[in-house]
Amino acid sequence: MSKESGNFLSDIHDADYEAAFLALRLDAAGLVKDSGRAAESLNGRWNFGVDWYDTCRRAKWFLEKTRDEAGRPMPVDWDWESWERMKVPACWNLEREELHYFEGSGVYTRTFRYLGEKPGERAFLRFEGAAYRATVFLNGKLLGTHDGASTPFCAEISGVAEADNRIVVVVEARRRADRVPMDNTDWFNYGGLYRDVKLLRVPSVFIKDWFLRLDPSDSVLLLDLEIDGGAGAAPGKASGTARLRIGELGVDAEIAVKDGRGTARIPASPELWSPENPKLYEVELSFTSTSPDAAGGRATAAAGAAAGAAVASTCDLVRDRIGFRRISVRGRDILLNGKPIFLKGICVHEDHFLTGKTTDEATIRSTIAHLRELNGNYLRLAHYPHDGRFARIADEEGVLLWAEVPVYWAIAFGNPATYADAENQLSELVLRDRNRASVAIWSVGNENADSDTRLSFMSRLAARARELDGTRPISAACLINHEKLAIEDRLADHLDIIGVNEYYGWYDPDFAKLPRILENSAPDKPVVICEFGGDARLGDRGSVDDLWTEDKQARLYEKQVEVIAACPYIKGTTPWILYDFRCPRRLNRHQELFNRKGLIDEDRKTKKLAFRVMAEFYKDR
Ligand code: GCU
Repeated sequence: MSKESGNFLSDIHDADYEAAFLALRLDAAGLVKDSGRAAESLNGRWNFGVDWYDTCRRAKWFLEKTRDEAGRPMPVDWDWESWERMKVPACWNLEREELHYFEGSGVYTRTFRYLGEKPGERAFLRFEGAAYRATVFLNGKLLGTHDGASTPFCAEISGVAEADNRIVVVVEARRRADRVPMDNTDWFNYGGLYRDVKLLRVPSVFIKDWFLRLDPSDSVLLLDLEIDGGAGAAPGKASGTARLRIGELGVDAEIAVKDGRGTARIPASPELWSPENPKLYEVELSFTSTSPDAAGGRATAAAGAAAGAAVASTCDLVRDRIGFRRISVRGRDILLNGKPIFLKGICVHEDHFLTGKTTDEATIRSTIAHLRELNGNYLRLAHYPHDGRFARIADEEGVLLWAEVPVYWAIAFGNPATYADAENQLSELVLRDRNRASVAIWSVGNENADSDTRLSFMSRLAARARELDGTRPISAACLINHEKLAIEDRLADHLDIIGVNEYYGWYDPDFAKLPRILENSAPDKPVVICEFGGDARLGDRGSVDDLWTEDKQARLYEKQVEVIAACPYIKGTTPWILYDFRCPRRLNRHQELFNRKGLIDEDRKTKKLAFRVMAEFYKDR
């Protein structure tokens, strides 16, 4: 469609209207670490419009233009305050019956007041999760667009925010072949602003990101930090001194910051974090700037001094509770703090029958309580980054985690934009959680057919994960090579731990293949069975050969754990899955739109027979 034609009307003729919104990305480069920062919640009941044709972005409702150039009133099609209310955070699918399968654009809007509290203060909106594409506007100005349904992103509002503000967020939840995941998955596609939305206030020069961990081999803490040099200034301009304090360890170290970066090796001998002893330390990191851009910061410092604030001479200060441990691979062993460990786990989806992908602390702690009943020490957070609170609570509770990006099944591996999306989601996950002791493994995907493009795509992702964090093993859930009946996947050369999904006794009834496969294989690194299992409808009983019964599921588990226990190079397992979960692909009378492989019913209470089999297996390991 020619935009030059005399009768071109952009809101109805512009087929590539979205390009302008995609030109400004909200991505990992703009992520502000919020650990230890006071955040003001923007959760609540926002006005909400079901925008089937994406008209808000096509017709630019966000500009709120209600009068023409001559000042005459215009007939507009939006009406923020008359719209229904939608809870934030929530999945719209479970908030309105008519939205259960809605995968289009939802328009969220609310007003909020913002008054700067300190000279030079900057402010950011931080979204913990929006599924899938979120385009954010403030007071009619585009702040940018984020892709990815499960990772956090930030938008700076300094210079755009007024005392009274209107935010408009268009959340579009389509499944598409070029997205990550693509349009076919085995879980429910929830949509909306389904995780927290918050306002962060930071000094003009502030600590944007920091990574603190134990050196893999020395009694030394490694710190890398990044300072944002000031609104508009190139981030690399900040210089000054950072200070790391860990009172209980007697650590009080100054770190020189130049061009926005600081790095240090700090001798320390912390008590090592482990599932048995989830020791966390109170960590404080501050920064005092000497670069001219930090006038606001110095003014902040002066103002702070006048106010007698404890951090008067400091531009910025953040805190966190951090555990220090070592996780590594040696030959076919996984080592935690130098000792071989067997990962006694189970898979979980972030799917709750009442709240969908929106979770809370009680749900997370209840999941961990069920893991304890299984005598487990480890969870595979499938198949996408879970809520950031999970790793924080796992730090406290002493649970090891496998964290994963949704490079799931048949991704558009040859599409550069798809790779950029996957790499950005991985970066946002690692930047969010790399200070969490509980996160033990980064996974770059699940069940992807071996091809040259897939190998290139996923090996690049593995390299990116190592670039952001060289301290954790990298894995992926690979498929058995069914022709060779062996664990053989070219991607394994790029992994530290080989994850294997297998469903012998369920999708492939010939269970005898499993021991043969394990005997046929000669992996030179640890293997974890990251999925096995079968469906059982709670309460359905029968013989051990009757599909969909608890009896068959339990017998399948008995046979699986017997073979797993006998294999010398299997160093962990996470059966599929702890809870039954919503899944639109599951249409028979036993499943009724749920995947029923859970050891516990979707009610998250009632256990099936196989639960006990797994608990017994883990009890003695
Ligand atoms: C696959 C896949 C899961 C899926 C499971 C199943 O292994 O990784 O996401 O739910 O099998 O078929 O139940």
